[in-house]
Amino acid sequence: MSSSIKISNLKIWDDRDDDVIIKDLSFEVKKNRCLAIVGESGSGKSMTVKGITGIHKPWIECTGCIAFDGENLLELGQESMQKIRGRKIFMIFQDGMTAFDPSCMIRVGLRETLAEKLDLKKEAADHCMISAMNRVMLNNPEEILQKYPHQLSGGMLQRIMIALALALEPELIIADEPTTALDTITQYEVVDQFIKLRKEIGTTMIFISHDLGVVRQIADDVLVMKDGEKVEEGPIEEIFTKPQHPYTQYLVSTRAALGTNFKRIMEETGDVGSEECEKVLSTGRGFIHEAEDDSQGCELSNEQGRMPWYHWRKWKWKIDTWKTGSWD
Ligand SMILES: Nc1ncnc2c1ncn2[C@@H]1O[C@H](COP(=O)(O)OP(=O)(O)OP(=O)(O)O)[C@@H](O)[C@H]1O
Ligand SMILES: [Mg+2]
Repeated sequence: MSSSIKISNLKIWDDRDDDVIIKDLSFEVKKNRCLAIVGESGSGKSMTVKGITGIHKPWIECTGCIAFDGENLLELGQESMQKIRGRKIFMIFQDGMTAFDPSCMIRVGLRETLAEKLDLKKEAADHCMISAMNRVMLNNPEEILQKYPHQLSGGMLQRIMIALALALEPELIIADEPTTALDTITQYEVVDQFIKLRKEIGTTMIFISHDLGVVRQIADDVLVMKDGEKVEEGPIEEIFTKPQHPYTQYLVSTRAALGTNFKRIMEETGDVGSEECEKVLSTGRGFIHEAEDDSQGCELSNEQGRMPWYHWRKWKWKIDTWKTGSWD
């Protein structure tokens, strides 16, 4: 089952200095649809979804209306919100590590969650997770459940979170940059699992990403944010083909420019037309909208230094190595 969510006149501010973070934001995600939220760093994407789930710091204040499942979430107390989180609204964050207790085996946290949300006993919880992990192509789930978070890769942790979502079947999934911290190839795999997740449980989704290529694959609609405000929203293809706001035009054209540069380099090296090249060009995976300097043109950025800067040559090298199967 999935539900729509309607946000009206959401205002979020820091009570310590009255700094307004989200000004007057309204949007709706219809049942079974996926809305992508894009925008530069600090534009308020995470704060918006933290407002929805009520997991912000105590000095953050929110007003407005968040209508979900017949209630205004902003009027609910912490106890009611705790019941909604996980079971009805499921969050997947950028860093899978933060979702697990570093001092416990993976299965401890999963058992706790499944006991609390689905009232499952230990064995039933393990069984439920193993079957969900098989569905997201995680090999040897029994073994994985006995690992500590630091023993697993970022991609595996994100898949475990997707498996947990499959098990819980929430009404709304909010994913805040779930692939940003992953390497490019793992991003492909994790995004594919998200697409499958949508197909399998038909859930409503809010997907935050800096990567317009990913967004185009997964979302039905896009909301573009800047400085705590919505600058544009609409169906995905419309935003890509006819962006109205100058900031959206900038996002879309910068990505197109990156694609052109990539193609030029692939032509130089005779790789244009190769399967990998076409995959990159058609999905834009690995492309991020903010090249620091367009004249350099040859760099891929994963936003504000969160990931190392990839030079096109290095990217090319990665593809070559990937082709020969020697890339870890
Ligand atoms: N805990 C906090 N207390 C006060 N202000 C905060 C807090 N967290 C974020 N902010 C402020 O809220 C604004 C929006 O931040 P937010 O994290 O929502 O941006 P974002 O669009 O998610 O950026 P990014 O793409 O880097 O994740 C920023 O100006 C930031 O300084
Ligand atoms: Mg954020």
